[in-house]
Amino acid sequence: MLDVSYRKAKVEDFPGILNLIRTSFDGVLRAHGFYESSPFASSKLPAVPQQGFPWFEMGLKEDGEGFWVAEVEGKLAGLTLSWVRGSLWYLAHLFVSPEHQGFNIGQNLMERAMKHHKGVIITNRALATFAYNPVSISLYARYGIYPREPLYWMEGASKHVKTQAASKVRNERITNFESGRKTLSHIDELTIGYPREKNHEFLIGLPTVRCHLFSTGNQPVGYAYVWQNGRVGPLATVSHEEFQ
Ligand SMILES: CC(C)(COP(=O)(O)OP(=O)(O)OC[C@H]1O[C@@H](n2cnc3c(N)ncnc32)[C@H](O)[C@@H]1OP(=O)(O)O)[C@@H](O)C(=O)NCCC(=O)NCCS
Repeated sequence: MLDVSYRKAKVEDFPGILNLIRTSFDGVLRAHGFYESSPFASSKLPAVPQQGFPWFEMGLKEDGEGFWVAEVEGKLAGLTLSWVRGSLWYLAHLFVSPEHQGFNIGQNLMERAMKHHKGVIITNRALATFAYNPVSISLYARYGIYPREPLYWMEGASKHVKTQAASKVRNERITNFESGRKTLSHIDELTIGYPREKNHEFLIGLPTVRCHLFSTGNQPVGYAYVWQNGRVGPLATVSHEEFQ
């Protein structure tokens, strides 16, 4: 048996956590034959993120109770990060290093993360995982979390992306979270059923992404985040007719 210890994550862990996520995920990609083609393979990612670790910093600040690491002989062997927004619990990360997989570390981390709910009643537990990964899918099913909705990774050269310039829709960039807070939260309430202010505050503060609010007349109809590398999302709309 392995001697595994569990503790809350600390700032000093961030570089090691990133490394562990990449190594663990590379293992999944290799096992399923996607390593060469995947944009998530570590060989395609910058060695040290230029912007530091803002995502982990937010996790520690807002959701420290859901941010755990596992250690074996003083070395990082696994981590999990979950966050809570309203009655939603979301598992953002669960990774165990390849050499430590199959020793119950994943289950032990999952159990710690699931206790993170800040006293509110959780009515929905969600996460996104890869359809080709039976180990993670079956682990989540054991906790009552079943595949519900397929998500697709869509990609195309921007010169081939056709837009329908909808003349009625106005586009305004939001650079300050406070100025957009109410409108963004209202759109979230209507579309996903709960506000996710922390996520907006985090995204609007990043130098690599722009938040656009779309309106017809004075009526906000949606928002979209557009990244420097061309990625789009999160995106939400309350009007399918206006927002194509
Ligand atoms: C998914 C993951 C977190 C599970 O953690 P783990 O510590 O390996 O899993 P555990 O030891 O807690 O075992 C959980 C169950 O999965 C099974 N399992 C673990 N690794 C397995 C493998 N390679 N093949 C088949 N079953 C496996 C275990 O046998 C156990 O089931 P059991 O109790 O019936 O025996 C880990 O394998 C991992 O990091 N994988 C790569 C990254 C990943 O897929 N993360 C999830 C992305 S959302």
